[in-house]
Amino acid sequence: MYKEIIEQPLTIHKAYFGRILDNKIAFETLSFSKADLKKFKNIIIVGCGTSWHAASFGALMLQEIAQIPTTFEIASEFRFKNLFITEETLVIAISQSGETLDTIAAVRAAKDKKGKVLGICNVQNSLLTREADSCLFLDAGPELSVCSTKAFTSQITVLTLFSLYMAELKNRAVDVEKILFELQKIPQKIKLIFKSIDHIKKIAKKYQKFEHFFFLGRHYMYTTAMEAALKLKEISYLNANAYPAGEMKHGPLALAGDHLATVGFCANEKTYDKTLSNLIEVKARGSLILALAPENAKGIQDIADDIIWLPKTIDELSVFPSTVAGQLLAYFIAKERKTDIDKPRNLAKSVTVE
Ligand code: AGP
Repeated sequence: MYKEIIEQPLTIHKAYFGRILDNKIAFETLSFSKADLKKFKNIIIVGCGTSWHAASFGALMLQEIAQIPTTFEIASEFRFKNLFITEETLVIAISQSGETLDTIAAVRAAKDKKGKVLGICNVQNSLLTREADSCLFLDAGPELSVCSTKAFTSQITVLTLFSLYMAELKNRAVDVEKILFELQKIPQKIKLIFKSIDHIKKIAKKYQKFEHFFFLGRHYMYTTAMEAALKLKEISYLNANAYPAGEMKHGPLALAGDHLATVGFCANEKTYDKTLSNLIEVKARGSLILALAPENAKGIQDIADDIIWLPKTIDELSVFPSTVAGQLLAYFIAKERKTDIDKPRNLAKSVTVE
């Protein structure tokens, strides 16, 4: 897992390399023509676990950048719901392995309803690549650790590119060049996070004693909180639950107390102030607060007990540095708790049963 975390500057680069030519996006394996893609009226993104978290990111990007009605669904729920799927619906199925049976079942259900299917996958010739109408590959190399890391950041790289591609097709007023420019700076920013590894190790030593965690974020930071909480759950066996930070007062706040630590994802400018006020709510009930915040952010020092400072980027791409810091936090907490990080109990790398 550690090796695959450290690989991410390279794998993120490989996910966009060759797909950005003079600020124009091109996908050589995309068999849908521009005319085909223009016809789609709605998009549903489907996946399991980490791939479902990537789906939640992709839905935000497609809604906000391409302004196409987009939802995201857990694959095992997909076929039991009467979803709006027509010939003008694009279903994007995300699967690192391409063998997850829940996701394959969702693909088959979508095609039964005449939906078109685009796969996003890391394994050539896997089942998904044969069942989808077209496929975009991560080119991240084999991901061996059960706990997915580099696949997630490559999935969100491909989803960012696809959202920009669709935005251009639909003539949306989006600064594609600016987002592409920021995207190509992400690998370097991830390398900067590796300079904080000793600091993250120290924080992990302090927080590994907790059995219960809130992972809180808003907007793009909620997607990040979900993914970071799953990392910690999977490899350290701790009870880590992600919530939209604004949800605390609607129930979960009843759980707050000095037995529970809160990890606050603060790297979205748009929701920063609101997130800080949510962290204050939890802190007031005795919870220890760890914040992941962009460098030079103001005010968080007065609230958080500990801070992991992150390289700053635009809100849409803040998922990248925040996720990698979350991966390292989970990894070092699991090291402290001496679990089998690469083969966690009860889990398999590819879930080929329903
Ligand atoms: C993620 O760390 C887990 N290993 C798991 O949730 C995984 O993302 C899920 O089983 C989906 O796998 P896939 O991407 O290969 O379809």
